[in-house]
Formats: sequence, C-alpha cells, structure tokens
Amino acid sequence: PVKVYPGQNEASVDVANRIATIIKQKQEKGETAVLGLATGATPVRVYKELVRLHKEEGLSFSNVVTFNLDEYYPMKPDADQSYVTFMNKNLFDHIDIPKDHINIPDGTLPQEAIQAFCEAYEHKISSLGGLDIQILGIGRTGHIGFNEPGSAPNSGTRLVILDDLTRRDASRDFGGKENVPTKAITMGVGTIFKAKEIILMAWNEKKAEIVKKAVEGEISADIPATFLQLSDKVEFVLDEDAASQLT
Ligand code: F6R
Repeated sequence: PVKVYPGQNEASVDVANRIATIIKQKQEKGETAVLGLATGATPVRVYKELVRLHKEEGLSFSNVVTFNLDEYYPMKPDADQSYVTFMNKNLFDHIDIPKDHINIPDGTLPQEAIQAFCEAYEHKISSLGGLDIQILGIGRTGHIGFNEPGSAPNSGTRLVILDDLTRRDASRDFGGKENVPTKAITMGVGTIFKAKEIILMAWNEKKAEIVKKAVEGEISADIPATFLQLSDKVEFVLDEDAASQLT
C-alpha cells in the first residue's frame, strides 16, 4: 500500500511512532526489538523524532538491536562520510542503545574477509529472529540499500559496485565524485524481504520519477525497488511531492 502525507514531517513522526510501538511491545514481553536502519537524507527526521521520544517521553532503546543496510567500501568508521558517523550523529549518540547492539557493515575489512563477514551478518539477523521492521529510502537508480540495477530478488549481504548516478548523487558529501568510493557492502534484496515489515520512504519532487517506476512500473531488476511490489509487508510512505507522478 501507498500512504501519502502532506509533508515529510508528519510522515516521519508516524514512522517513528510505529518503530516506538514495536520497541514497547517487545519490552513488555521482555524481548529484543530488531530494527533495520537506513542512512541518507530520507530518515533523518525519523531519527530526530526517535531521539525526542527518548529524551522527552522516556522511550528506552535498551532492548533494541540494530542492523544498518549498508556502508561504503572501503570506509573508515571515523571518517566524516561513513555511515557509522552518520548513525552516531543522527541517532545512536543521543539514545540509550548499548553500543554492542549496533551492527553496521564493516568498511575496513580486507577483500578476502568480506564474504565471511556478510554471511555472519545474515546469520546474526536470523539468530535474533529476523528484522521486526526495515526502513528504506530509494536512490534515483531505483536502489534500495545499495542494491543497484541488476540486483537479484534473492540477493544476500554482499560487496557491490555503486552505480555512476549514485556516486554523482553522493559527490557533494565527498567534495567530488572522484572521492566517492566505488563499492559498498549492502544487505541484499532478499535480506530486506525477510523483514516482518518494510517501510520505504521518499520525499521531494526529485524522487517523484523513480517513485512512480518503483510503485507502478514493471517488476524488474532494472529497478530493484520494483521487487517491493511483490510483498504485502511493504508500505510506501510518501510526501505529496514524491507521490506527484503516481496515477
Ligand atoms: C542508505 C541507503 C540508500 C538511500 C538512498 C536514498 O542507507 O541504503 O538506499 O536510502 O540512496 O538516499 P537519500 O535518503 O539521501 O535520498
């Protein structure tokens, strides 16, 4: 289903509340909430609201384990552009999540260690009972995570090559496209699909064209986000501008 909000603020507050509800339901049962998280501009206000819920309304993250979708490769965790830095700044530094509950793909591994790391990442998710919710943004190539065009619907966590458009879109953060890493480690489409609930968010006019393709276009590896049409656990959460080309 598709849900259109007047603006990204209202939408983000709603998504944050859904995450908070999962966390609280799990807390009551003495269980762990397993969250799949995204980086980039799209989820920033969701994280801001989660921080507010922690600081002002006592929401605790002590029973939360997180798995981030992706990280550039190679990437040092303490670099300005790393997704570790992004998550710390936007969420983890401001809540009470135990540091050892945070999982983000490791951008410092030697090539030959990546495959084993990716298998362990998958295994860790399933050993915790799977992701209770996965939040996603969408790239202009139609990627979810860093599953670029050509990604298989059953793909797992792996090393991928970034699309040229993705690197161009990231160039501002890196001070030029030539500084953007050419690779990343990402959860696969198949990894994402195993989540019990999936929310893809998109804001702004510049996402309208790809959102139309993702929601209404032919299902194809050319636009990996179209695979989400195959699941009834998926919700597309949009602002009016991102939804403006939908029929
Ligand atoms: C980020 C990720 C990407 C982004 C997408 C949109 O962890 O996996 O798929 O969600 O590139 O990026 P923004 O939100 O910056 O437009």
